[in-house]
Amino acid sequence: MLLSALFWFPFLVPLNHALEFQYHNTAQVERYLYEISKNYSSITHLHSIGRSVEGRELWVLILGQHPREHRVGIPEFKYVGNMHGNEVVGRVLLLQLIDYLTHNYMSDPFVTKLMNATRIHILPSMNPDGFESSGRDCMYSPGRLNKNGVDLNRNFPDAFLSDFEQVREKEVDSVIKWLKTEMFVLSANLHGGAVVASYPYDNSNGGSELQGDSSITPDNDVFVHLAKTYSVNHASMQKANKCYDSKDFTDGITNGYSWYPLEGGMQDYNYVWAQCLELTLELSCCKFPPESDLPGLWDANKPALLAYMQQVHLGIKGQVLDLNGTPVQNASVEVQGRRNLCPFKTNQNGEYYRLLLPGNYTITVRYPGYEPLTETVSVPYGPDGFTALTHNFQFQKSTSTTFFVATEPTCPSPEVSNRENHSAALLSSTIITLTALTIHTLLLC
Ligand SMILES: *[C@@H]1O[C@H](CO)[C@@H](O)[C@H](O)[C@H]1NC(C)=O
Ligand SMILES: *[C@@H]1O[C@H](CO)[C@@H](O)[C@H](O)[C@H]1NC(C)=O
Ligand SMILES: *[C@@H]1O[C@H](CO)[C@@H](O)[C@H](O)[C@H]1NC(C)=O
Ligand SMILES: *[C@@H]1O[C@H](CO)[C@@H](O)[C@H](O)[C@H]1NC(C)=O
Ligand SMILES: *[C@@H]1O[C@H](CO)[C@@H](O)[C@H](O)[C@H]1NC(C)=O
Ligand SMILES: [Zn+2]
Repeated sequence: MLLSALFWFPFLVPLNHALEFQYHNTAQVERYLYEISKNYSSITHLHSIGRSVEGRELWVLILGQHPREHRVGIPEFKYVGNMHGNEVVGRVLLLQLIDYLTHNYMSDPFVTKLMNATRIHILPSMNPDGFESSGRDCMYSPGRLNKNGVDLNRNFPDAFLSDFEQVREKEVDSVIKWLKTEMFVLSANLHGGAVVASYPYDNSNGGSELQGDSSITPDNDVFVHLAKTYSVNHASMQKANKCYDSKDFTDGITNGYSWYPLEGGMQDYNYVWAQCLELTLELSCCKFPPESDLPGLWDANKPALLAYMQQVHLGIKGQVLDLNGTPVQNASVEVQGRRNLCPFKTNQNGEYYRLLLPGNYTITVRYPGYEPLTETVSVPYGPDGFTALTHNFQFQKSTSTTFFVATEPTCPSPEVSNRENHSAALLSSTIITLTALTIHTLLLC
């Protein structure tokens, strides 16, 4: 009896979180992140990726067994919160997540395995200026935009649209530079105003990606799986909570374009140019709920936040090597049947990561000077064991020609505009936006 009492003891005491459930301002968040990075210095690393328009640091806390540097075979994951300054649940949840991961490392087996096998980057607020200017109204607080009045989720380069030499905001520019410093594999971007997991694309120019009312990526099966992973592990998302929106989200997921098309969004940018699969997670009907709702929101989202991170171990990973076994940078790794707008390329360690559902895949690896290498690989389900299948490719023959260039998909340049398709796309999206505006005026998420 004594034994069982001892055994149950830890479960009877509510987990004593150091971090209160409240809306911390920028200074309090900074102090908290700084203390965590000091108290858990072996598993965390705090750095800033840039500054907001008003000069606030965009702090990122990295968590993992080796937080200070990338290790070959350890995938990079990220969560971004509070891109819309008045959508604040993600910001709170990400701070709670940091607290949970640090406090449970080496005691909770799931957290320990996840942190040992993954490098996790958390940007709790991408728009601290917007947050500081926001009121606390459930839906109608200002603060969505940055200090220059720009919606950051409309300010990224758009593969389906010319850019009109658009000015890149400091917060967006910082994120674009950040994406070049690490090879991120999986990401989510936390919003509010609805309860749904939305996946790319958010935009289309009427090409082959447009299927029915959806804009479909070559990795659609993976995106649907990722979105469902969040919704089914969330307390209520899969029940298709409608909030104020009339749309019925089957399984609590939606294609972004099919919900409402948008230009210059972050998730499309991540996928097209950073080869990082990103979802947009809408986590509460209220964009700025009362503080008393926060513990319940954490309980509802915690299993989903954890399960989603584990999905970074889907599919296949490895290195591309030359004839001598030296890693090859910028080799393209194409999975048959998935013609990405920009080919997935290896990093400076010759590494690639491809999130794939279990099955058999034919993969072609190309680099100028070598004969393309094609292999068929049977891919198991990796997340349960916290590792994707490791498979290296080694080139067997060199060639004098670089013939493969012609067969490579041409990656749209993020800075060069496509004037020809611009007017048609702009016209159609303007009509859509105007229609949507009359219904949705303040319901953008
Ligand atoms: C860090 O450690 C100090 C000293 O033990 C403690 O007072 C403080 O609450 C801790 N802070 C966090 C955020 O864990
Ligand atoms: C995680 O890594 C730590 C530090 O290397 C090690 O002591 C521990 O056994 C590992 N645990 C698991 C579950 O992998
Ligand atoms: C331009 O738009 C047309 C249809 O409007 C489409 O067929 C074509 O593929 C697009 N071209 C580019 C380069 O996106
Ligand atoms: C790989 O491509 C990047 C970006 O185009 C370039 O900066 C880098 O020098 C290339 N590296 C090699 C080894 O080709
Ligand atoms: C994959 O290939 C293996 C043989 O290598 C075969 O046994 C298996 O049935 C295939 N799986 C699928 C889903 O096609
Ligand atoms: Zn939003």
